[in-house]
Amino acid sequence: MSDKPWGGRFDAPTDSFVEAFNASTHVDARMYAEDIAGSKAHASMLGAQGILRQHDVAAIHQGLDTVLQEIESGTFTFKIELEDVHMNIERRLTELIGDAGKRLHTARSRNDQVATDTRLYLRARGQDILTRLHTLQSVLVTLAKAHHATIMPGFTHLQTAQPVTLGHHLLAYVEMFSRDYGRFQDALKRMNQCPLGSAALAGSTFTIDREATAHALGFDMPCQNSLDAVSDRDFIIELLAASSLCAIHLSRFSEELILWMSAQFHFIDLPDAFCTGSSIMPQKKNPDMPELVRGKAGRIVGGLMGMLMTMKSLPLAYNKDMQEDKEAVFDALDNLEGSLRVFGDMLPGMKVDQATMLKAAGSGFSTATDLADALVRAGIPFRDAHEIVGKSVALCIQKPCELHEMNAEDCLRIDARLTLAMVQALSVEDCVAARDHVGGTAPAQVLKQCARWEALLNAKEQ
Ligand code: ARG
Repeated sequence: MSDKPWGGRFDAPTDSFVEAFNASTHVDARMYAEDIAGSKAHASMLGAQGILRQHDVAAIHQGLDTVLQEIESGTFTFKIELEDVHMNIERRLTELIGDAGKRLHTARSRNDQVATDTRLYLRARGQDILTRLHTLQSVLVTLAKAHHATIMPGFTHLQTAQPVTLGHHLLAYVEMFSRDYGRFQDALKRMNQCPLGSAALAGSTFTIDREATAHALGFDMPCQNSLDAVSDRDFIIELLAASSLCAIHLSRFSEELILWMSAQFHFIDLPDAFCTGSSIMPQKKNPDMPELVRGKAGRIVGGLMGMLMTMKSLPLAYNKDMQEDKEAVFDALDNLEGSLRVFGDMLPGMKVDQATMLKAAGSGFSTATDLADALVRAGIPFRDAHEIVGKSVALCIQKPCELHEMNAEDCLRIDARLTLAMVQALSVEDCVAARDHVGGTAPAQVLKQCARWEALLNAKEQ
């Protein structure tokens, strides 16, 4: 018997470099448990259908348990000449139980096997991401509640825009992560169909029971087209796309934390356990974790782009190109999970300099819109009010002073309709408290949103 499960047709051995280049065990060995679960379900079904004898099925189950135990105890050696996890496990099974092991591959191909294993493996990893997202959201809601009335500047174009509450800002990320959660859920639901029984591409000549294997492996149903089942990698692309968006959200959050921790902002301090120092500059405390998480977005999006290109124009059905699928998605999910974990662990230890935030919130004429709104309430059309406040800001820059520091003479010089009472009433506290409607930044609204999120997260119902 040749060393290769497919060796019968070949005269010459595989080139030694090709052997290593072709092998995928370094990537797919981590799907060993799913490969074994898939093989057990397949063998049971073959037994139930009278395609395999029951004592062969029993031997296969026992042998696979031994293989599983060998892999988990570290005594199993994956051989690159056996290419991948599937052939390594099957070969060892055959060493252990003889001919029964060779019967396992009846009515099956590595094409439906790898598609099944990958879906099973990613289904579990996708659940891990959902758990991490949920934890991070809970951490953010707790922080938002604590900071429902902490005032900070809100920015557009990274220029001071209007005061907001820190709680409101944090809840913006809870919303983003909720959509990420939904995207993962959708992808996981869509991919939960079983390719097994599609065999190489056309199905099998045996009277297999595809419902049985699908059910045994926790799939909703068997894939309904054998060609599609072995060709489809859009489930991988969807997971990469969901990962990419989530990583982009994390990168924006990272960027803000990095800015906020700079000496110039001085809004926050991140815990030592999540920062590093410099080997030359003794004063440095660098926000390495948000920086690294920001960087991870690049490779995760890179994985998505790579996989889209790998699949572009591929004819049906299986092509070896598709072996490239696992590395990208495993890497993306590993790094996304790590990023979510770091954020969930780091944020509870974040210190907030509320006094600095408040001071910054009041500078940069952040109350200008509210002054315009006061003029509108006095019956002035908004565009005129905008013009009057614009002139007031120009005057303040020239003096210099803040809007609420203008005197009666300043007001009169700009427009008779601008009163001292209007400018003196401007406070950042009033600015945030006034935005008291669904989705607004008022502390009362932040508390309402926190309560809504707590209920949703407790019920695991986002
Ligand atoms: N290692 C392969 C992969 O990951 C398994 C499928 C191989 N099928 C084949 N016909 N060569 O794609």
